[in-house]
Amino acid sequence: MKREKIEWSQMNKKVEIRNEVETDYKKVEEVTRRAFWNLYVPGCIEHYLVHVMRSHKDFLPKLDFVIEVDNQVIGNIMYTKARMVDESGEEKEILTFGPVCIMPEYQRMGYGKMLMEHSFEQAVALGYDVIVIFGNPNNYVSRGFKSCKKYNVCLENGTYPAAMMVKELKPEALDGRKWVYYDSAVMKIDEQEAQRFDESLEKMEKNFQPSQEEFYIHSHSFVQ
Ligand SMILES: CC(C)(COP(=O)(O)OP(=O)(O)OC[C@H]1O[C@@H](n2cnc3c(N)ncnc32)[C@H](O)[C@@H]1OP(=O)(O)O)[C@@H](O)C(=O)NCCC(=O)NCCS
Repeated sequence: MKREKIEWSQMNKKVEIRNEVETDYKKVEEVTRRAFWNLYVPGCIEHYLVHVMRSHKDFLPKLDFVIEVDNQVIGNIMYTKARMVDESGEEKEILTFGPVCIMPEYQRMGYGKMLMEHSFEQAVALGYDVIVIFGNPNNYVSRGFKSCKKYNVCLENGTYPAAMMVKELKPEALDGRKWVYYDSAVMKIDEQEAQRFDESLEKMEKNFQPSQEEFYIHSHSFVQ
C-alpha cells in the first residue's frame, strides 16, 4: 500500500527538490512551525532555529533544500557543519542536519525519504562521509542511520544517547576508533529569543500531546 501511495504521488503530482532561496524563507519557517508544533514540547522552537541558522558560519547553503509539490513548498532540510575528535586529538569535519520536516498533511507519503536521500547524494558530492543526528530513531533507521554506539561515537561525557545516530555516507568511513561528537554552536538556542520570535507570529495553541512523552523517553535514554 505504502509503495502505491508513493508512486501515485509521484505520477500525479509535480515533485521538485531544489535549494532554498530567500523568497522561501518565510514559508519554510511556517512549514517548520506547523510540522513541529506541540510535537516534542508544547509549542516549538525549530522555526526559530531555521530563522537564525541561515546566517551562521556553520550553515551549509549548498545542503539547504526545499521540496515542492505542485509548486508549493511542503518541506525542507538544512545541514550544518559539525566535528568529531578522536583520542589522539585528530579532528574530522562531518555533517549534521535538522530541522528536517514535511508539512503534516503530506507526511508519511514518501516525501521526507526523497528529500533526505537527495541531500545524502549531494553531501557525498561535496566530499562528506559521515552524518550524526539526534532524533526519533523511527524516522531514521530506514534511512541507514545506526546507533552512535555501533560506531563508537559518543558525547564529551562519554555517553551514547539513544537519540544520537550515525550514518556513513561512504562505507567504512569510520574505522571503530572512539570519537567525541561536537555540534555547531548554532544548536544552542536562546529560549527567550525563540519565545519572542514566536510571539511575533500568528498565535497557535500550545497543548500536550503523547508524542511529547515519547520525546522525553527518547531524549533521556542511553545505549549501554
Ligand atoms: C520525520 C519526517 C520528516 C519524515 O518525512 P515523511 O515524509 O513523513 O516520511 P516518509 O513518508 O518519507 O517515510 C519515511 C519512513 O517513515 C515510515 N513510514 C512511511 N509511511 C508510514 C506510515 N503510513 N505509518 C508509519 N510509518 C510510515 C517508513 O519507515 C518510511 O521509510 P521506508 O519507506 O523507507 O521504510 C516528517 O514525518 C516530519 O516532518 N515529522 C515532523 C517533524 C519531525 O519530527 N522532524 C524530524 C525531527 S527528529
